[in-house]
Amino acid sequence: IEPNYELLSQWAANRVIGKINAARPTADHPFVLGLPTGSSPIGMYKALIKAHEEGLVSFKHVVTFNMDEYVALPETHPESYHSFMFNNFFNHVDIDRKNIHILNGNADDLEKECADYEKAIEKFGGIDLFVGGIGPDGHIAFNEPGSSLTSRTRMKTLTSDTRIANSRFFGGDPNNVPQFALTVGVGTVMDAREVMILVNGHGKTRALQAAIEGGITHMWTISALQMHRHGIIVCDEDACDEL
Ligand code: GLP
Repeated sequence: IEPNYELLSQWAANRVIGKINAARPTADHPFVLGLPTGSSPIGMYKALIKAHEEGLVSFKHVVTFNMDEYVALPETHPESYHSFMFNNFFNHVDIDRKNIHILNGNADDLEKECADYEKAIEKFGGIDLFVGGIGPDGHIAFNEPGSSLTSRTRMKTLTSDTRIANSRFFGGDPNNVPQFALTVGVGTVMDAREVMILVNGHGKTRALQAAIEGGITHMWTISALQMHRHGIIVCDEDACDEL
């Protein structure tokens, strides 16, 4: 628990930097990092960019896998998760473009796209650290309430709650938010050697309470983290109001 969002972001960035540097990654043995979008990780990305500028960390031998992407939203759309990642992070660090993996929500065969994503993660020996956020309904990536806790990468229909929550990025109208998304599964996230979830603000208090004090249930998919051997939740004081 950190006092505020800025310190939460710095804590998360320090964890990422510490893990990458401790692994001493090389071209043959890269560090494999899972990454989220959303407003929660923006402060962490800023802190990582600053640390990179100061020479404290390099992403040259880091391979990334993003959590999710909207279906049928052009990659160049300002709210695609592709755009988000390049604007907020990738364009500002020394990562090699061939090491970046983001699901293609415009692929001809979406099922194959998802299966290939799982294979690519496997090819790199699994994910070392998966960083994530949660929705107000406790969804991790786009694993909406009711998702199997052993799910793998696949297409999901977004709930009305999620489309309302994300409408702030689409001119305020939930109907403008894509209906479907590709997302890594809960099982995909839980297979990572470490999972770090960022939770900030009053809007997440119920989800954080369910994640920590509730039982493990597919209705709050973040609760699966209770079973992880190296699961970390980094939150601010505001998010703790219901604990
Ligand atoms: C979206 C993403 C999630 C993210 C959630 C919370 O639904 N698919 O991965 O955790 O938004 O977003 P925010 O951080 O903006 O609250």
